[in-house]
Amino acid sequence: MIGGAILTCVCAAGLPELLPSQDKPTGPVESCVTAECHTGIVQRRIVHGPVAQRKCAACHVETDAAEHRFAIPGERRELCTTCHAMSHRTYLHEPVRQGNCTGCHDPHGSEHALMLVADPTRGLCLGCHHENEDASRAFVHGPVATGACILCHEAHSSWQPALLTEPPRTLCLGCHDEVRPDPRRDRHVHAPVADDCLGCHDAHASDVRHQLHEAAPGLCYRCHDAMREQIAEARLVHGAVTADGGCSTCHRPHFSALPALRSRTDAELCLDCHDKPMTAADGRRITNMRQHLDEHPDHHGPIREGSCVGCHLPHASEAPNLLRLAYPPDFYAPYDAARYTLCFECHIPAMVQSQQGTGATRFRDGDLNLHWLHVNKKKGRTCRACHEVHASKNPFHMRDAVPFGTQGWLLEIRYEKSPDGGSCTPGCHAAKSYDRTLVPETDAPGDGAGSRP
Ligand code: HEC
Ligand code: HEC
Ligand code: HEC
Ligand code: HEC
Ligand code: HEC
Ligand code: HEC
Ligand code: HEC
Ligand code: HEC
Ligand code: HEC
Ligand code: HEC
Ligand code: HEC
Ligand code: HEC
Ligand code: HEC
Repeated sequence: MIGGAILTCVCAAGLPELLPSQDKPTGPVESCVTAECHTGIVQRRIVHGPVAQRKCAACHVETDAAEHRFAIPGERRELCTTCHAMSHRTYLHEPVRQGNCTGCHDPHGSEHALMLVADPTRGLCLGCHHENEDASRAFVHGPVATGACILCHEAHSSWQPALLTEPPRTLCLGCHDEVRPDPRRDRHVHAPVADDCLGCHDAHASDVRHQLHEAAPGLCYRCHDAMREQIAEARLVHGAVTADGGCSTCHRPHFSALPALRSRTDAELCLDCHDKPMTAADGRRITNMRQHLDEHPDHHGPIREGSCVGCHLPHASEAPNLLRLAYPPDFYAPYDAARYTLCFECHIPAMVQSQQGTGATRFRDGDLNLHWLHVNKKKGRTCRACHEVHASKNPFHMRDAVPFGTQGWLLEIRYEKSPDGGSCTPGCHAAKSYDRTLVPETDAPGDGAGSRP
């Protein structure tokens, strides 16, 4: 808009007579404001400097005295900057670039500070940015809902893109200190939280609680694409991942004192759900693990340390029971170390590999390795034939009984520990006992604990 509007003065004729003669105007005059004329222009709470001084001529020159017509002198877009030098930062607001200062400022005055045409913490910006009204979105950010756009945006220009007053993260943390990690406690910070907050939150509004771009897991898959694929393709997907709340039941979105942004330690995390019997996708009944652990006080090492993911994958797996590595599901299996990678990740495979048991295992009769004897053969007994993997009431996690055959007959083991060995009276053979001291000269005390360092 160049050249400016032609203005018509609506007051009664004879204006000049009201003025002292020495002040007789030639063009537009201070006397434009009288009891009858243009009084409204100065009756504002905030009046513009030159208007207060009745310097109407600074902005209006008469072009047609008879018709009482006025024009803006010079280029309309430069009107304000002839008196107000503006120093702009990198990013310029479009109306400022266009010199449309009156889009926000009333040239004469207004009820609002700085002669703004509306309250900048309420409706000013929405006058043009109707699309940001966001009233139709279910969750509108507090300051946006009130229209306080200038808490985050500069009106004229900014060093930041999108006219932000500060880089996004600094901006957000300015009001949300609770999302600032405490380095002494929150040692694991989610990478995008250290970056900025907009990867997950919409600064203005959204249809998801907390103004998230979308709910988990979709939100998480935006960046964790590999995990989307892994879960889509896996043979077994954990019910926890597909349950309501998905990823957020186990992970904190911002930071955590625990690795992998865990919300709690595994045992607490897992047992919160696994405190009741469940049904697997294929109809199997899944043990109430909390009850099982409560009733069987001798817990396996990793569980004592609070870890379930030493053996289980939390999200999805190719193996049954979400196992991390291989472990034979049956009572019998031909021996192959590759079937036992789960156990041998932490225990030494030597315990089943040689006939000589000394130094490799405590389960031996003299030097005869009884692990080797049971496990390492074509029709080998698997570890589950004797051991309970989570917890037991017996020493060495020995089972009370083991399901045998397709009917699930419970074959009792009746294991008894003795000072130098033990005995059992199982359903599969007559009572037997073993004694490590039968070859005392090669039996170093405390050897063969079988755990890798
Ligand atoms: C700082 C520059 C400036 C000064 C000083 C100024 N005006 Fe204006 N005035 C404008 C502009 C710009 C417009 C056009 C507004 C628009 O088109 O949005 C305008 C419009 C007007 C109009 C027509 C529209 C309306 O708002 O009623 C009148 C009448 C008017 N001015 C009178 C005056 C009088 C009387 C004075 C002196 C007391 C004065 N102006 C001082 C800039 C100024
Ligand atoms: C003839 C010179 C002149 C022109 C042209 C002019 N102004 Fe002003 N403006 C002033 C003066 C003088 C003040 C009062 C300065 C003060 O109080 O410190 C002022 C004050 C202001 C203020 C308040 C600043 C503050 O810090 O309180 C704003 C906003 C403003 N002008 C905007 C505009 C806009 C928008 C235009 C164009 C429509 C414009 N001005 C045109 C002279 C001018
Ligand atoms: C999008 C609305 C908008 C436009 C367009 C705009 N202003 Fe402003 N202006 C504001 C707001 C809001 C403030 C108060 C700034 C603040 O508090 O941070 C302001 C403040 C000012 C001030 C007071 C001093 C300062 O810089 O803070 C002046 C003078 C001013 N504007 C002049 C202008 C001029 C001249 C133009 C045109 C080149 C212009 N404005 C265009 C909204 C606008
Ligand atoms: C007079 C009309 C008008 C007013 C009033 C106005 N804007 Fe704008 N704004 C525009 C135009 C035009 C654009 C550029 C086109 C677009 O992106 O929509 C723009 C763009 C923006 C952008 C995007 C800048 C970018 O680089 O992406 C932001 C942010 C913005 N305005 C904030 C504000 C805020 C905050 C206010 C109130 C202080 C405001 N606007 C008031 C007209 C206006
Ligand atoms: C809490 C801070 C905050 C408030 C309040 C806020 N904005 Fe924004 N706005 C942002 C951020 C951050 C961006 C940059 C978004 C991005 O890059 O994804 C932005 C971007 C924009 C843009 C650029 C286009 C877009 O949507 O990405 C416009 C226009 C805009 N805001 C207008 C407004 C208006 C109008 C208001 C007031 C109703 C407002 N904003 C209130 C933080 C805010
Ligand atoms: C000017 C202060 C201010 C700034 C800056 C600000 N917020 Fe807010 N935010 C608020 C207020 C006020 C609320 C509403 C009160 C509440 O729910 O705690 C809110 C609410 C929120 C909520 C929802 C809280 C809930 O419990 O549902 C989220 C999420 C949020 N803000 C994220 C952000 C992000 C991301 C940014 C940076 C782009 C940001 N905020 C910048 C003031 C601010
Ligand atoms: C990886 C995605 C992600 C990022 C990045 C992110 N958030 Fe969040 N934020 C969330 C999720 C998910 C929730 C909801 C948490 C819940 O349901 O308990 C949330 C909740 C919030 C809340 C409200 C509840 C609370 O925890 O106080 C605020 C405020 C918030 N975020 C601010 C921020 C700020 C500020 C940043 C940047 C420093 C940020 N967020 C970065 C995902 C994210
Ligand atoms: C804006 C992108 C983005 C979004 C959205 C996102 N993440 Fe991340 N996340 C990352 C990046 C980058 C890393 C660090 C690199 C890596 O490990 O892949 C990371 C790492 C992680 C880690 C490993 C942290 C560690 O300390 O080992 C977890 C767990 C995680 N994200 C969970 C989530 C969850 C849950 C969600 C959804 C609520 C989510 N992420 C959404 C980008 C994102
Ligand atoms: C049952 C609890 C649980 C659920 C549900 C869950 N996670 Fe995890 N997640 C974990 C645990 C525990 C770890 C740490 C695994 C480890 O240390 O080996 C982890 C690790 C991660 C990691 C980092 C290591 C890796 O595997 O890449 C990412 C990223 C991750 N989770 C994202 C997600 C996303 C995205 C979702 C939702 C689709 C999700 N998680 C759901 C418990 C869970
Ligand atoms: C030392 C490895 C190991 C650890 C540690 C471990 N598990 Fe397991 N878990 C297994 C194996 C192996 C199975 C397969 C069933 C079996 O052979 O008894 C299994 C099966 C399960 C099942 C399915 C049971 C059923 O009835 O089908 C659940 C549930 C389970 N574990 C939960 C947990 C929880 C919760 C933790 C942590 C408190 C945990 N596990 C720790 C190895 C482990
Ligand atoms: C939000 C509830 C929830 C949490 C938390 C949870 N689970 Fe589960 N889990 C389930 C449900 C539901 C099932 C059965 C449905 C399915 O997986 O298809 C299940 C099944 C399992 C199974 C048996 C899978 C099968 O088909 O044999 C194992 C093993 C398991 N969970 C281990 C864990 C471990 C380890 C953790 C902690 C890292 C954990 N769960 C945390 C809900 C949960
Ligand atoms: C994540 C590491 C880890 C995995 C995997 C693991 N264990 Fe263990 N296991 C331990 C730790 C730690 C101990 C405790 C050692 C100690 O107390 O000296 C232990 C102890 C044992 C004991 C008792 C030893 C004793 O002296 O009381 C048996 C039996 C056992 N594990 C069998 C198994 C079987 C069978 C598997 C495979 C299903 C397996 N473990 C997988 C870490 C593991
Ligand atoms: C026939 C029953 C039986 C089978 C099968 C069996 N164990 Fe054992 N295991 C025992 C007995 C009994 C002990 C206790 C030895 C002692 O200290 O007196 C034991 C002890 C252990 C120990 C403690 C360290 C050691 O070697 O003394 C580990 C670890 C262990 N077994 C792991 C396994 C693994 C892994 C498998 C499967 C590859 C397995 N066991 C198969 C009976 C068995």
